[in-house]
Amino acid sequence: MSQTLTITRPDDWHLHLRDGEMLKGVLPETTRDFGRAIIMPNLVPPVVTANDAVAYRDRILAAMPEGAEFTPLMTLYLTESTDAADVAAAHASGLVTAVKLYPAGATTNSASGVTNFDKVQGVLEKMAEIGMPLCVHGEVTDPSVDIFDREAVFIDRVLDPLRRRVPGLRVVMEHITTADGVAYVMANDADLGATITTHHLIINRNHILVGGIKPHYYCLPIAKREEHRHALVDAATSGDARFFLGTDSAPHTDPNKESACGCAGVFSATNTMSCLAHVFEQANALDKLEGFASLNGPAFYGLAPNAGQTTLTKHADPVAFPAKIVTGDGDVTLFDPGFPLYWTT
Ligand code: DOR
Ligand code: ZN
Repeated sequence: MSQTLTITRPDDWHLHLRDGEMLKGVLPETTRDFGRAIIMPNLVPPVVTANDAVAYRDRILAAMPEGAEFTPLMTLYLTESTDAADVAAAHASGLVTAVKLYPAGATTNSASGVTNFDKVQGVLEKMAEIGMPLCVHGEVTDPSVDIFDREAVFIDRVLDPLRRRVPGLRVVMEHITTADGVAYVMANDADLGATITTHHLIINRNHILVGGIKPHYYCLPIAKREEHRHALVDAATSGDARFFLGTDSAPHTDPNKESACGCAGVFSATNTMSCLAHVFEQANALDKLEGFASLNGPAFYGLAPNAGQTTLTKHADPVAFPAKIVTGDGDVTLFDPGFPLYWTT
């Protein structure tokens, strides 16, 4: 008899959908399993103003597959000239859910990010006042800091001082990759949450570099040592409501990944729920999957869980997912967990 698990329909609290043909190609991969997603604003040019967010949301809604039940939760890209009143109005109207902070140069399309944090103090104070969350890409960009240390250094040098300067600001540490990130969340209060990606629960840095370079495992923040992966699995499966799913599913076409200077990003929308069921089962924590994927995120954002349910089924034999998603921009390789998957939604 096959095993099943019924949970509240999940959400993805960190997602890249891109635009145009790529958006059309990848959106169905998310709407199949997820009720809502926090949509990253790092387009070229970025989604900076409320008007940009309206236009982008309309393009997403126009690309929705027939019959999909999915709500994109929009974000604004914080720049040094972001207007506090524009942000507050966009939040009050329900158009925009959160603001995204990219340190300038930290990752894909982050050139307009923040260098001088004094310049965004007013916006952050306004956000604290109205309870609007700040989603943070937590890596320093200082070239003298080793890429594997950039998250831990960011916590000490940037995040902790920022949270002290703006008391009450609700912060999501996005895609944490280290035991340091887990420990920082656990040492603080409910104003601080963290998303964890599917792939960081599964790969460590050896997967990227041993036996030949594997560009489809390259993302930012880069995967760390095995002990850090363990800390992430422990956090995700602990039931602690401050940790929740944000896939950071980030499509790039194969030529852009398989290149002498390949783009950062892992595309996992299609098989994330299958991978997560596997990880949680291995950790003897299938009973914690619903909290991580469906309940903790809405609770942090002050939203109700989705009304619908999803039933996961464990099959006797491995199940097949496509190796690539075909888009009008080109093929996008799906995340390969490196082990057989048995669960489907
Ligand atoms: O790996 C990543 N890809 N990390 C990010 O922060 C950005 C993302 C993208 O947009 O491709
Ligand atoms: Zn991202």
